[in-house]
Amino acid sequence: MEYTNPQIAEVANKLKARANELDNKADILKSIELKSLFDQLKILPSDQKAVFGQEINNLKKELSEIVLSDQDKLNEKGPIDITAPFDVNSPKDKRPDLLSSEFGSQHPLTTELTKVLDIAYRMGFSAYESREIDDDYHMFGSLNFPEGHPARDDYDTFVTDQKDKNNKPFIAPAHTSTMQNRILKDLKGNLEKGEPIACVIPGRVFRNEDLDARHEHTFYQLEGIYVDEGINTGNLIATLKTFLQSYYETELEVKTQPFYFPFTEPSFEFSLSCPFCQKKGCRICSQSGWIELLGCGMIHPNVLHEAGIDVNKYSGFAWGGGIERLVMMKYGIEDIRYFESARLDFLRKLA
Ligand code: DAH
Repeated sequence: MEYTNPQIAEVANKLKARANELDNKADILKSIELKSLFDQLKILPSDQKAVFGQEINNLKKELSEIVLSDQDKLNEKGPIDITAPFDVNSPKDKRPDLLSSEFGSQHPLTTELTKVLDIAYRMGFSAYESREIDDDYHMFGSLNFPEGHPARDDYDTFVTDQKDKNNKPFIAPAHTSTMQNRILKDLKGNLEKGEPIACVIPGRVFRNEDLDARHEHTFYQLEGIYVDEGINTGNLIATLKTFLQSYYETELEVKTQPFYFPFTEPSFEFSLSCPFCQKKGCRICSQSGWIELLGCGMIHPNVLHEAGIDVNKYSGFAWGGGIERLVMMKYGIEDIRYFESARLDFLRKLA
C-alpha cells in the first residue's frame, strides 16, 4: 500500500519491519507509533483530517492483515495422525506438516510443576505420578469413606460403563488421595529401616463441576504424605509453610481452620497470608488478606491400618491441593479455564 503522507509512510515501513520480528504479531496493533498517529488526527485542522484519517485507517488495516495471516498460518495445519510415527531421516516433504518448533513452548503447568517438585526433592520427598483411571476401593474404601457415606458426594466425578471385579465402575479420580493406600503399602518398608515415608504425588484429577473462573472439570493436584514415629500437627504446618515460602519466594504467615475429610483426623483447611499484599487486602485475595490453598490433616489411623502400618507406633500427615490454584496465586491469573484452553496468547505470556 502507498502512503502519500511521508510521516505515515515512514511509520508504516517501521511497523511492518517490526511485525516481522515479533513472535506475537498482534502486539504491533498496540504500538505507540500507531497510537500517536491516531492522537495526532484529533488535533489536525479539519481540512486535513479526511486524507490523514483515511491513510492511518489503511495502515491499521494493513497491519491487521499481517496479524490475521499469521494466525491463519498457525491454524491451517491440519490434525496429524499421532499413531503413525515417521522416519526423521525421510525427506522433508514426506514428513507430517508439523508446526515448526519456534512456535512451541512448555506448558506453564509443566514449568511450574518442575519447580514444585524440585522444592519437594530438596526437602527429602520422592515423587510418584497418580493414575488417570482408578477404582472405588482406592477412591473411597481405602480412604475411610464408608459405603453410602454422604462425604462421597463431595467427590462427584466421571465413571466408566465397564465394571471392576467388585462390579463397581472404574473412576476418573476426583483427587490424588487415591494414591495414598498404594504408596503407604509400597513404602512401609522404609519405616522398618528407620526411615520416613515422604512422598509427593502430582496428578490429573476430574470433577463433575459447573465450570467457572475457579472450577474446571479437569485439573491437577499435588498430594503429599509423610509418616514416621512421633509426627504431629506442628510438623505438618512447618513443612507446608517451608514449602510454600520457597515456591512464592517470600515470608508467609499461615493459618489452619478445622475442616472435615474422612481420611484425616484432625482435618484442616490451610490458608496463607496473601503473597501479593502482605495481608492488606487486594484483588487476588478478595480483600481478605488470606488465601485458602489446600486441605490437609493427620492421616486417619484407619487409613494407616488399612495399609498395614502399626498405628500405635507411627503417625503421619498428608495434604492435597490444586496445582493451578498455586500457580494462579503466583502470577495473578484470574481464570483457571485458561490452562486447558490452548489459548496461545495465555501460553506465550507464561512461556
Ligand atoms: N483430597 C482432598 C480434596 O481433594 C484434599 C486433601 C485433604 C488431601 C486432606 C489430603 C488430606 O491428603 O490429608 O479435597
